[in-house]
Amino acid sequence: MAAFNTSNGRPFHIIIFGATGFTGQFVVEEVARTASEGPKGNLKWAIAGRSRPKLEKVLEQAAGALSKPELQSEVSIIVADVNEPDSLASMCKQAVIVLNCVGPYRFFGEPIVKACVENGAHTIDISGEPQFLESMQLNYHDQAAEKGLYIVGSCGFDSIPADMGVVYTRDQFKGTLTAVESFLTASFGPEGGCIHDGTWQSAIYGLADGYKLRSLRKKFGHKPLPVVGARIKRRGALFFSNEVQQYAIPFMGADPSVVKRTQRYLHEELHESPVQYGAYAGIGGISSVFKLLFAGLMFWFLVKFSFGRNLLVKFPEFFSFGFFSKEGPTRKQMEGSSFRFAFFGEGYNDGQDPTEGKPNAKIRTLVQGPEAGYVATPIAMVQAAITMLNESDSLPKTGGVYTPGATFAKTTLIDRLNKHGIQFSVL
Ligand SMILES: NC(=O)c1ccc[n+]([C@@H]2O[C@H](COP(=O)([O-])OP(=O)(O)OC[C@H]3O[C@@H](n4cnc5c(N)ncnc54)[C@H](OP(=O)(O)O)[C@@H]3O)[C@@H](O)[C@H]2O)c1
Repeated sequence: MAAFNTSNGRPFHIIIFGATGFTGQFVVEEVARTASEGPKGNLKWAIAGRSRPKLEKVLEQAAGALSKPELQSEVSIIVADVNEPDSLASMCKQAVIVLNCVGPYRFFGEPIVKACVENGAHTIDISGEPQFLESMQLNYHDQAAEKGLYIVGSCGFDSIPADMGVVYTRDQFKGTLTAVESFLTASFGPEGGCIHDGTWQSAIYGLADGYKLRSLRKKFGHKPLPVVGARIKRRGALFFSNEVQQYAIPFMGADPSVVKRTQRYLHEELHESPVQYGAYAGIGGISSVFKLLFAGLMFWFLVKFSFGRNLLVKFPEFFSFGFFSKEGPTRKQMEGSSFRFAFFGEGYNDGQDPTEGKPNAKIRTLVQGPEAGYVATPIAMVQAAITMLNESDSLPKTGGVYTPGATFAKTTLIDRLNKHGIQFSVL
């Protein structure tokens, strides 16, 4: 077992790197709110980034927002820059876990994974970029395993609700669950809502480089995962979903890649039956379809050329019909927003052989929660870290680069999320 000791002489259980970012500031607040859930009710934590004055401002703001003036004197500040390896090494030596909020991860992520592995820190990130996530697995899994370190990507809205949602659906099903489809819908209050530019940039560069994923995947040399039971049906690029009573499209984020990696781990390492997965997102009525078609085609075209990418980066609001913005959502907008993941699973009852006949049982589950990007994401990331600190015996037997589902399937992460407003239920 890759046991690790939180009292191993490191000054901090958690260091939040990228604390000055739009997302990082909310991760800081979430850690401040939940510090009593740390080991022995006392989480030791610090914030890190490349600008001390900006980090001081973040603490000042968090102290005001949470009415906790003590944050300004009690929370340490560490200055570290992705471009200065010595500063990263020095930061990593002080942490049990580095929570990394510096993105786009394709540009900034690897030096932090490397520094963590070399300096004995676990790390958790909120990347939604499959190419980064899978290349870290390819390049660092063995070194991390050797050192008993856990490198766990995609612990934000991408992809804890989807990945843990499939794990939950399988655990609740009485028999062999063979396939799950998820339908994501989001709702906004009267003030509307949007996503911050940081995620927009990650999407632009991710799509531009998408073709590299196929060759990366070949390097793993994986055998195809066995299909247990009936093969899952593949839907079209746009369809009316009776499940969510609106038009839907295949979900373009990291969820399918992350869920598949988890199912491979559960099958190959724990000899569990793999679940097939299809991910879809509801987009609304016919007017949303036209908007999405127009914005999607423009995005698809521009992302191929460097001048087009520059245009997209410069004018997020224009090219996304206001869905992404340089300012990000206001607190009011966040308060009025929420997400809902509906899971539709099918399989074979206990006693029914999944290699024979059609599936004979269904299950519906739901994962729902507050605003996805800056409320649910900090909750998911921080609860992942708290679970890692408190439940080292329930993590995979060896360290390595893992998905959330692989890391936390045998822990109480879902119960913890339930208590913090990301709710898992069977319908
Ligand atoms: N999984 C999810 O659902 C989810 C949700 C939200 C965000 N995200 C991801 O999280 C990432 C951050 O998004 P965001 O909107 O918070 O972006 P952001 O506001 O642009 O924040 C970027 C952060 O990276 C820091 N940084 C940039 N270059 C650095 C360097 N050389 N050394 C040290 N720090 C550096 C910035 O520091 P300065 O302040 O000094 O510039 C800032 O703290 C993105 O990849 C986004 O896709 C994922």
